[in-house]
Amino acid sequence: MTAELNLTRDPAHLRHGSNIGQPLTRTDGTLKVTGKARYAADNHPPGMVYAVIATSCIARGRVTALDVAAAKRHPGVIDVMTPAHKPELAEDPDAKGNPFAFRMELLQSDEVRYANQAIAVVIAETLEAATEGAALLSPRYQVEIARVGLDAGEAYAPPVVGIGNPAEVRHGDIDAGLAAASKRIDATYETPAQYHNAMEPHAVVAVWDGDRLFLDTPSQGMAMAQMRIGGLFGVPPGNIHINSPFLGGGFGSKGLVSGPQVLGIMAAKLVGRPVKLVLRRSQMYGPVGHRPQTRQRIRIGTGDDGLLTALDHEARVTTSSFDDFYEPAADASHTLYASPAIRTAHEAVRVDTGTPLFMRAPGEATGSIARESAIDEAAFACGIDPLEFRLKNYAEVEPTTGKPFSSKALRQCYAKAAERFGWARRPLQPRQMRDENGFLVGWGMGTATFPALMFQGNARAVIRADGRGVMESGAHDMGQGAWTALTQISADALALDLGQISFLSGTSDLPDAGIAGGSAHTATVGAAIHNAGAAVIAKLAELATSDERSPLFGAGNAGVVARAGRLHRRDDDARNESYAEILARAGVAEVEASGTGAADPAAQSQYAMHAHGAVFAEVKVDPELGQIRATRLVGAFAAGRIINPLMVQSQLRGGMIWGLSFALHEEAVMDKRSGRILNANLAEYHVPVNADVPPMEVITVDEHDPHVNPLGIKGVGEIGITGSAGAVANAVFHATGIRVRNFPIKIEEVV
Ligand code: MOS
Repeated sequence: MTAELNLTRDPAHLRHGSNIGQPLTRTDGTLKVTGKARYAADNHPPGMVYAVIATSCIARGRVTALDVAAAKRHPGVIDVMTPAHKPELAEDPDAKGNPFAFRMELLQSDEVRYANQAIAVVIAETLEAATEGAALLSPRYQVEIARVGLDAGEAYAPPVVGIGNPAEVRHGDIDAGLAAASKRIDATYETPAQYHNAMEPHAVVAVWDGDRLFLDTPSQGMAMAQMRIGGLFGVPPGNIHINSPFLGGGFGSKGLVSGPQVLGIMAAKLVGRPVKLVLRRSQMYGPVGHRPQTRQRIRIGTGDDGLLTALDHEARVTTSSFDDFYEPAADASHTLYASPAIRTAHEAVRVDTGTPLFMRAPGEATGSIARESAIDEAAFACGIDPLEFRLKNYAEVEPTTGKPFSSKALRQCYAKAAERFGWARRPLQPRQMRDENGFLVGWGMGTATFPALMFQGNARAVIRADGRGVMESGAHDMGQGAWTALTQISADALALDLGQISFLSGTSDLPDAGIAGGSAHTATVGAAIHNAGAAVIAKLAELATSDERSPLFGAGNAGVVARAGRLHRRDDDARNESYAEILARAGVAEVEASGTGAADPAAQSQYAMHAHGAVFAEVKVDPELGQIRATRLVGAFAAGRIINPLMVQSQLRGGMIWGLSFALHEEAVMDKRSGRILNANLAEYHVPVNADVPPMEVITVDEHDPHVNPLGIKGVGEIGITGSAGAVANAVFHATGIRVRNFPIKIEEVV
């Protein structure tokens, strides 16, 4: 595989080398499958001790007593960190510096805000001693009644939702649209709290050296973590060195540094030794974020022709009693379907849980299952096939803004997935199909969409005397294969073979790559890498073209093309020179340059940028037992340029499985009396296991998008959930004729 980089900066003229687009297996795959990948908790610096968090078993009230003496008497226990005995912090953990500085529970008081909140930290020579010490604390509480569920308190309008979107958006006149309709749907859907459950729990190994801090801890955003930790401890962010080479999953829960991670750092400061703190699975149900509960009312009006006259999407979401994260559940209704009137609105209710957080497709996932169900209901009310109904109401421009789409190959997604699935044979009426065992068979579909976002990230490129290249960027690989894709982009950016470059990543000592979130990491860091590569090759070209001894002399920057480690004159390919030759003659050891990837405000103001997809699902329902099995899933997605088809397939499959999980499995059940989550473990918090996952097919539809970013990447991390959850739910309706509006759909609701 060789690579070519065209030095012309105009994106319309960009060509790419052959690394982008290859189905490479993970560059870190061997390390992972041989157990050599070192995750945060695998680190054991000399002199390290163990910290274990004692958590609250009440959801609201105060801790009135802790038997610290009993814990300290236990052999091996070194110290017990409590609100009365802890290192001073430079900043109030409840202060709000910016929208991403979420409030944290760092033992600042005896107040309990939610079950599983940290109330003390025991530090000991062994994990066993620390665990036993935590048990010996025998806390006593003053208990207040926990506020639980969507009706826990008075609803209020949040200031903004998501990462700063308006809580209410109006386009056209909803009342007039509904009044003019000949058919109306008015339906209310509920989605449960979900918890991220990354395979690797949050963990930290913290080592202080004076006012420098060395951390092994998983992070989806190391620079933001440095800022937050630096603020809390009063040290410059640059003094904080984070290693986060492998994350073991994140799904948003490692996007912001969490309270337990900071408690591990505090413990290390308190005892003056390296400390390891790892959350138990159950302890992840509280302090590290979750997807909040939603209740969504959707009203749809249609004319006799099946065209929408109004789409009104209202969402009530839960948030914590002490902070402000609001799931933007209704927002995805801005983009998909054309309607003269669209309104989205949010209200919130404060409950006694940890603060919710971004969780894979935050807002889009919760909103999509409700909206795609409602669209299915509207199509059925009109007597129109659900695919035909969606095509009738296809948005040619973004309905709420009127902007053209930067690209939108959704029609092709519908067509390809429907064809593959065999959708044309679907009977319109439900309960018409049975399999050979007498099980009811249903077919449903949903439309997928997720915004094509860009954050800001940086990269540094080096070409060395031997002609090899290095690309550096502190990017984050949650397990999705980002490093692999970024390595491919790096090789093309430097016009070198994969074997001739090193891609360095996974620590905060490298250029800030921004945050791995919003399905935007490959696009953002990829653009930074692309720009850094172009800049370093421009420097190399400058060295050559300004030197009369070079065969490239006088060619000028635009007259040179980089290919396979050589620069060629554009007008005479035979006149060329290797990177190593250019550097040797110039007498320099290396050339280096930096690049940044960021959103283009001009393009963003002009275009609506979204990835799209269509998912078709088959389910079988046992008519006597109500057992539901998904038996087939077909998805087609258009998400701009595909960097690595293997990784992309895997991401989309993972998303679709999460969609299936959303529809049929996943739910955190809270005890209404205690405010504790009853199934805070992977045995009872159901996610699909292999036996639940049906044969799946993922189709990617070619899409060239010259506007989203230099490489035309839209991102694939989250979109897979969004169409799939609704498709499965709609298939259950089609199998049974029963419309379930509370998710996940349960056996007892379909018999
Ligand atoms: Mo994602 S929920 O933006 O990690």
